[in-house]
Amino acid sequence: MKNIFNIAILPGDGIGPEVMSETYKILDVINKKFDFKIKTHEFDIGGIAFDKFGTPLPKETLDGCIKSDAILFGSVGGEKWTCLSRDKQPETGALLPLRRFFNLFMNIRPIKLNFALKQLSPLKKEIIKDGFDILCIRELIGGIYFGLPKGRNTFDKKNISAFDTEIYSTKEIERIANIAFQLSLKRRKLVFSIDKANVLESSSLWREVVTKVSKNFPEVKLIHLYVDNAAMQIIKNPNQFDVILCSNLFGDILSDECAMLTGSVGMLPSASLNKNFFGLFEPAGGSAPDLKGKNIANPIAQILSLALLCEYSLKLNYVAQFIELAVINTLKKGYRTLDISDGKNYITTKQMGDNIAQTLSEIIKS
Ligand code: IPM
Ligand code: MN
Repeated sequence: MKNIFNIAILPGDGIGPEVMSETYKILDVINKKFDFKIKTHEFDIGGIAFDKFGTPLPKETLDGCIKSDAILFGSVGGEKWTCLSRDKQPETGALLPLRRFFNLFMNIRPIKLNFALKQLSPLKKEIIKDGFDILCIRELIGGIYFGLPKGRNTFDKKNISAFDTEIYSTKEIERIANIAFQLSLKRRKLVFSIDKANVLESSSLWREVVTKVSKNFPEVKLIHLYVDNAAMQIIKNPNQFDVILCSNLFGDILSDECAMLTGSVGMLPSASLNKNFFGLFEPAGGSAPDLKGKNIANPIAQILSLALLCEYSLKLNYVAQFIELAVINTLKKGYRTLDISDGKNYITTKQMGDNIAQTLSEIIKS
């Protein structure tokens, strides 16, 4: 087994650097307790990179990522950079090109109700009494995000039109559907494929191809849902879902909806992987500029993103499990950051990081 891993750390903008600092504490514990080393290499990305170098994705950053075993990503974006041209904006000039460059076609977002935080869910008690555990599988480098043509017709200055293209090929649908079915084998063997096949051509192909792929997985039950119905069913009864298979746009929307049902988007990690399971791991919650610099953001999504990195890219499953357990136990002890607190009793970002690191160190010992 490999005993030195190199990971690229890209803290980015907003709360990115603050929550990323806390993952270093977790890495310190891991590096002390086990006989392998995870080495970190930090690079600028997003708005901060644009301010320093005039580009949100400097060559040095990309080269650093290429040399690494995985990428731990904070978040990018903020008001300051929204007026720039698309290629200079943090999201469309750095994050999306990174996803595309490394062929990170699968985005995995595990969304599970944490029983210690049940009262934070906006859903009624009766609806979540049995909890829920959803795995959102989102296609990440196709569909309307990248489809061409994309642009504006400006010949009539008084009535400009703008367009994007939702396009999917058989191969793109097959590869993401395969992942969803495979992952469902280790779970409830239930895949919900989301589309809008009653209206969209790209969705009717999606439905056809997913149905075909499902034939190779006879033990898995496949249910097709229109996206509007899915959005409704998720709040009506989230526990009926297991794996949700989505296009890029539908996955973006539904994963935020599912995330909120757990009570806070500050808790949700995400993995974006290519076919070799090289990946970029990031919190699903974004840069949250309003929380920046206040030492109040929740570092859990970032720390759990590190757990996913260990699991998927470094194949250190047991380390991922230790990190997850450390987070759960810390919450059980009653520690809360502002977003998951009653608004009065809460600890800072740094204290949450210290507590999780401490808990981790204790459970590895025992
Ligand atoms: C996400 C984010 C990104 C996306 C943005 C920041 C480009 O919302 O990862 O869900 O839309 O994919
Ligand atoms: Mn999103």
